[in-house]
Amino acid sequence: MKICVVGTGYVGLVTGTCFAEKGHTVCCIDIDEERIGKLKKGISPIYEPGLDELIERNQREGRLFFSTKIRDGLEGTQLCFIAVGTPPADDGRADLAQVLAAIDDIGSELSHSCYIVVKSTVPVGTGTLLCKRIKNHLRERGMEKINLEILSNPEFLKEGMAIEDCLHPDRVVVGAASDEARAVMRELYRPFVSEEKIIFMDPASAEITKYAANTMLAARISFMNEIAQLCDKVGADVLSVKKGMASDRRIGEYFLNAGCGYGGSCFPKDVQALCYIGEGQGLDMTMASAVSKVNRKQKELLQIMMRERFGEDMEEIEAAIMGLAFKPHTNDMREAPSITLIRGLLNCGASVRAYDPIAMDEAHRLLPDNVQYAADIESLLAGADCAVIVTEWPQFKEADWEKFGGLMKRKIVFDGRNICDPEKMRALGFEYYCIGRNM
Ligand code: UGA
Repeated sequence: MKICVVGTGYVGLVTGTCFAEKGHTVCCIDIDEERIGKLKKGISPIYEPGLDELIERNQREGRLFFSTKIRDGLEGTQLCFIAVGTPPADDGRADLAQVLAAIDDIGSELSHSCYIVVKSTVPVGTGTLLCKRIKNHLRERGMEKINLEILSNPEFLKEGMAIEDCLHPDRVVVGAASDEARAVMRELYRPFVSEEKIIFMDPASAEITKYAANTMLAARISFMNEIAQLCDKVGADVLSVKKGMASDRRIGEYFLNAGCGYGGSCFPKDVQALCYIGEGQGLDMTMASAVSKVNRKQKELLQIMMRERFGEDMEEIEAAIMGLAFKPHTNDMREAPSITLIRGLLNCGASVRAYDPIAMDEAHRLLPDNVQYAADIESLLAGADCAVIVTEWPQFKEADWEKFGGLMKRKIVFDGRNICDPEKMRALGFEYYCIGRNM
């Protein structure tokens, strides 16, 4: 099939590349000339394991193209995906400016019938809005005969696992009104999943599914974070509680890890946006609001624990921050708990030194100038009063604490991801604090 993908951000680039990998001919469009220039040379603007190779190979084999001109993408295309960003506006609602710009662009160039598929996460009813808008463009250009249908096909890929999630999805959700559109989407996804894994519904339900799925996952995390606080109060172990709960098949084991809060470009914004969508309909959205509230508090927890240990004035404290990305295997720091923590520590006068295996460039861009950086774990921990684990990178999980303890000024560890064994740490002479396991 011939496919156009508008937007080469995370979702657009990964999905476009995976469509090509499965044999479709894909043209990815972006208004950012520098980005497209780099992509044509096979340089990915985002860090995602395996993506560079796929981009390079599919371009070389003539299935993947990049352009800044929507006309190049639309030529002969059966499906045009919109995969641009919907960042939160100042009031927390999803900002649709990029989606509207994309539909205007398509409307000003389209000259044949095709299906427009919205992959961006958008509020309920956006499909209907886009349909009206593009039809106005076509009418103005005397092209009202063109047949159009706007479909919704939300994306469920996780950063760091995006290629795997995209090539082997658990399910594909498609909001489509006509049988013809469903047949085209079935054909598109045939190389990816068996037919029963494609779940068809109306577009509004597909739009809600995306927000509801992310909010449910975020709710599991916030719930466990609350349980972890209770565990600390009563001297219980949140990992044992998780194990006990997760063995019930109805509950399962995923997304039940307590920690220093969830971050990223999706959970925080989608939970918030769901609240707005519901409130706009006169609902309280009590659950979704509570999920956000618990997470905001959770992101403060590490610095609260550190203030309890060192006092409000941390002038003398050198804190070594292990991990800056919002999760391992990505350089993404959007809404990362590390940002809340580091700002809080600097406010208390602490000296902050940080290290992340791949998010250092992002950190220089996003963090205050007075943060220092280390090139590796050893130089990070040398002379530090405490280590604070914020991202569960494998190299931190495998850390040789016996050796590292010898480098530190004081053997104190705050583990925001519960990756160390409390007993072992204490046996090594560490003062060890974690989330929901401080028995
Ligand atoms: C999330 C969803 O998992 C994807 O299904 C969805 O497609 C994506 O958002 C999106 O809307 O585009 P992502 O933001 O890449 O994916 O990251 P996750 O792996 O879901 O992690 C989100 C945050 O939750 C991270 O900060 C992580 O550390 C935290 N987390 C995750 C926990 O604190 N505990 C857990 O048990 C799991």
